[in-house]
Amino acid sequence: MIKRISLAILLSGNGSNLQAIIDKINDGNLKADIKIVISNKKDAFGLKRASENGIKTFILDHNDFENRESYDEELIKIIKKEEVDLVVLAGFMRILGSNFVSNFLNKIINIHPSLLPKYPGLNTHKKVLENNDKEHGVTVHLVNEGLDSGPIIGFIKLKVDKKQSEKDLEDKIHKLEHYIYPKILSEFQEGKISIDDNKVLINKVFYKNGKEYLN
Ligand code: GAR
Repeated sequence: MIKRISLAILLSGNGSNLQAIIDKINDGNLKADIKIVISNKKDAFGLKRASENGIKTFILDHNDFENRESYDEELIKIIKKEEVDLVVLAGFMRILGSNFVSNFLNKIINIHPSLLPKYPGLNTHKKVLENNDKEHGVTVHLVNEGLDSGPIIGFIKLKVDKKQSEKDLEDKIHKLEHYIYPKILSEFQEGKISIDDNKVLINKVFYKNGKEYLN
């Protein structure tokens, strides 16, 4: 039997992606243990979701630190104690510095609501609609020091209907996120995803721009 995977999940807000991961674990389809959920925002609803599921939580407010380096230093200490296989960013709205990234090299993954490298940062749904894009989507990638950058693991696409509201588009994107993130975590757990020389291999195949997942 392949070993369960252990996770530290970092978030700043609602935590619907955390919930999707919890649900997948609870229904037996993801063999993972969430060791800790950490938020930089004390009122993040994701903390409540974690507590309700008996998961340890920690609030590390960036306002209590002088700079990014000292914040990251403390974050590294907290995560190291948990000895996790992966650090999972689930709506964690902070850039992680090079010290953090090198401490968890090839072990940090992020989900972002766009087809990266298009639209890193905020307001991706709005930008897609304003630019009349025909497609939108979700990307899961390894994290480096940049904003929403690093080798892409996988993505999932959506056709954009020009008439839909930003909220409708956001809801559709969330559904795709809740599908692809637990799925990719499962593939990590099953040993299907490996990282070699900063390149992502899935079932030993190298995907230059990430693998397309279908819903
Ligand atoms: C998600 O849409 C996620 O892709 C995005 O934040 C949202 C968090 O939602 N992340 C980023 O924009 C990272 N740059 P959630 O709190 O409901 O999971």
